[in-house]
Amino acid sequence: MTEPLLEVRDLKVYFPVFSGFVQRLLGGGDARVHAVDGVTFSIAEGEVFGLVGESGCGKSTIAKTLVGLVRATSGRLLFRGEDVTRPDPKTLFRLRERIQLIYQDAHAALSPAMTVGEAIADVLRTHGLPGPSGNRVQTKSEDAIREAVYRTFDDVGLRPPAFYYNKYPDELSGGQKQRVVAARVLALRPQLIVADEPVAMLDMSVRARMLEFLMELKAKYHLTYLFITHDLATAKFMCDRIGIMYLGRIVEMGRASTIYADPKHPYTKALLEAIPIPDPERKTKKILPRGEVPNAVWPPAGCRFHPRCPAVLASCGWEGRDVIALLEERWLSPELAEREALAGPVKEWEADGLIARRQMGKTDPGPVYDLIRRILLESGGPMAGAVRKVSIEGTVVVVEFRPPDLLVPKEAEGRVVECLLY
Ligand SMILES: Nc1ncnc2c1ncn2[C@@H]1O[C@H](COP(=O)(O)OP(=O)(O)O)[C@@H](O)[C@H]1O
Ligand code: SF4
Ligand SMILES: [Mg+2]
Repeated sequence: MTEPLLEVRDLKVYFPVFSGFVQRLLGGGDARVHAVDGVTFSIAEGEVFGLVGESGCGKSTIAKTLVGLVRATSGRLLFRGEDVTRPDPKTLFRLRERIQLIYQDAHAALSPAMTVGEAIADVLRTHGLPGPSGNRVQTKSEDAIREAVYRTFDDVGLRPPAFYYNKYPDELSGGQKQRVVAARVLALRPQLIVADEPVAMLDMSVRARMLEFLMELKAKYHLTYLFITHDLATAKFMCDRIGIMYLGRIVEMGRASTIYADPKHPYTKALLEAIPIPDPERKTKKILPRGEVPNAVWPPAGCRFHPRCPAVLASCGWEGRDVIALLEERWLSPELAEREALAGPVKEWEADGLIARRQMGKTDPGPVYDLIRRILLESGGPMAGAVRKVSIEGTVVVVEFRPPDLLVPKEAEGRVVECLLY
């Protein structure tokens, strides 16, 4: 095996939360956004590796960490075996030549006050011209720089280059701007391109062409891509291997063809079943099981997908707030709501880790105890199976769950899955 071009080992990136409200809500606990929470993958030279997942699962944070825009909280990043987790300014400068980021928003990536030709000339003045053996040659010759910009424009299909050199970003289409961004990236002769949703903001009509263009560049310049997208169809077209992300973790990873043919993780299955039909006239809405993506400040216990998982087991991570979610769900049904009014209102229930409790004050806790037991039993299934005990402690009704089973990524039929079913 050759050494991977990039290795990411157990990367964690947490952001501070400055909202007093959230702090209070969590009782001053670990109020940090767990944007990336233990992610491991590697990319071989010449490969296209995809990170795929819904908005907010941590894809862009990984991208930004790789180019030094965000600091890793812990974990390691290795580029050609060299530790670049916390680069000093000199290492970072060199790293930025070798790893380049293409953003979703080409417009924001370009200065409106500078012609696109000048934007690239500027990069070449700072980093030098690419030399014959991958080295960089500093030059004061403006002619040589302009020549090099023309060559790069020609490479990315902005022809004739002299015509585009003096254009401002505002005068170009979305596709042309994304090509300028590609030109600026290529001017540095990078080895790894991190493309963060590069076509998401382009018109449908030019997306496919842009993806093909990225593949042409890859072949021509022997590039390696980390390709980030929320769109499974795009990932299928682009990627050799993919990692499916959910709330800061990779839940399934392997060859794209293997995963598309036979997804194993319930989340991957749900995503694949929700692939929108590629018909621009028809707006298909992605339907995922139960509920919204939970908050990354306080990720669900055990498997983070458990509140939405159609295959969930008793050991997957049931906790106090799932009781509150269950009550909320039941109260949406008028018939149940009436019968179960006694258990509520929901805001009187409090979740604390594995425990849900309701302070009854002067009211007799007995009937509420009976009712919550019945609700849990009736709801049946895995959640009820996870209850350790329901009890009355003084004036408080308490529901307590057993701790979840340990969840670790496992090999299963040619890919890695993080799910207790395997
Ligand atoms: N600078 C930041 N400060 C606080 N939270 C952040 C910051 N950047 C991203 N986040 C949060 O981290 C999580 C992951 O975000 P992001 O990496 O942008 O996801 P994606 O690119 O998959 O949509 C989200 O909950 C987002 O709100
Ligand atoms: S561990 Fe597997 S079965 Fe359990 S909730 Fe997660 S995805 Fe579903
Ligand atoms: Mg993003």
